Amino acid sequence: MPTKIEKDEYSGTNTTGHVWDGVRELNTPLPKWWLWSYIACVIIGLVMFVLYPSIPYGPGYFHGLLGYSSRVNAMAGVAQMSALHDADLKKIAVADFATVRADPKLMATAQDAGRIAFANNCQPCHGTGGQGQVGYPALGDDVWLWGGSVEAIAATIRHGVRNSDPDSRSSQMPAFGATGTLTAEQIADVADYVSVLYGIAPNGSDTTKGAALYADNCAACHGEKGQGNRDIGAPPLAAKVHLYGGDRASIVAQLNRPRLGVMPSWNTRLDTGTIKSLALYVHALGGGE
Ligand code: HEC
Ligand code: HEC
Repeated sequence: MPTKIEKDEYSGTNTTGHVWDGVRELNTPLPKWWLWSYIACVIIGLVMFVLYPSIPYGPGYFHGLLGYSSRVNAMAGVAQMSALHDADLKKIAVADFATVRADPKLMATAQDAGRIAFANNCQPCHGTGGQGQVGYPALGDDVWLWGGSVEAIAATIRHGVRNSDPDSRSSQMPAFGATGTLTAEQIADVADYVSVLYGIAPNGSDTTKGAALYADNCAACHGEKGQGNRDIGAPPLAAKVHLYGGDRASIVAQLNRPRLGVMPSWNTRLDTGTIKSLALYVHALGGGE
């Protein structure tokens, strides 16, 4: 039951006038520091509300008097980065490879641009990180069809292999079986000899006939000792890595009807800076010469 407001004799504070079972409620005020910080917070809140983007309405929102936008700031940051990146790619396009390699900043851009362009354009055929698959050479090993210097790699990327680009890399292994140039028996013999070069067991122990056939029909392209020939992209048969599989059946299949792998040219699709970045990226995958 309310009684009248009076001063409490112990605390010196006014009572609220509420009394429960004889106990009177004190009207203790908020501490001054708390009150002022609260008011300051409200004022700061109102000022921020007016200066910065705040209340949404209809299709938009109040943009604030300062016109601040974290989205615009982020986009400006991205635009600035990509301008730097473009400027670097232009430098890479005109500099020679030695200059790019000597410049850590250009080299970092080349590796970045190369990695991204590789994932977008080359991965479907050459595999993630260039590990290769049957018919599509691995690019991180040191077995090269057309050459592993950064210049040779760039030329392969620019013009591709066996396509309509006038400067495309090109060569034709004859279809010895399909055209009847070699009989099935001769193919078996020469496949035995090639098996030895591959490091797998030949069918028969006598490879002299195969060796003679190889010298007559194959050595001109694949080399006397199977070392390959990069001028015509003839694979080194004496290597441990093979484009079309390392077993005897793959050798016989290639002798009957060669697959003649095709790679598109990229000089019409990618700019010079990106192609050179790709060459530097591929060169750095592990097998670069
Ligand atoms: C459509 C499939 C395909 C695509 C896409 C492709 N390649 Fe190739 N690439 C091939 C084939 C097939 C060969 C081997 C051709 C041959 O038999 O000589 C090859 C060969 C190469 C070689 C030569 C390897 C050597 O041992 O000399 C390089 C380097 C290369 N590719 C890089 C690239 C890069 C970089 C890209 C992306 C810009 C790319 N390729 C995209 C199919 C492809
Ligand atoms: C005119 C040059 C030429 C001649 C001659 C030639 N080859 Fe080839 N050979 C190539 C080329 C180029 C390739 C890769 C082409 C492709 O993608 O099919 C190849 C690929 C191969 C492969 C697959 C290699 C791999 O890494 O998977 C085998 C095996 C092979 N040749 C064996 C022979 C044998 C054996 C003869 C002789 C009977 C022969 N070649 C004659 C040019 C030649």
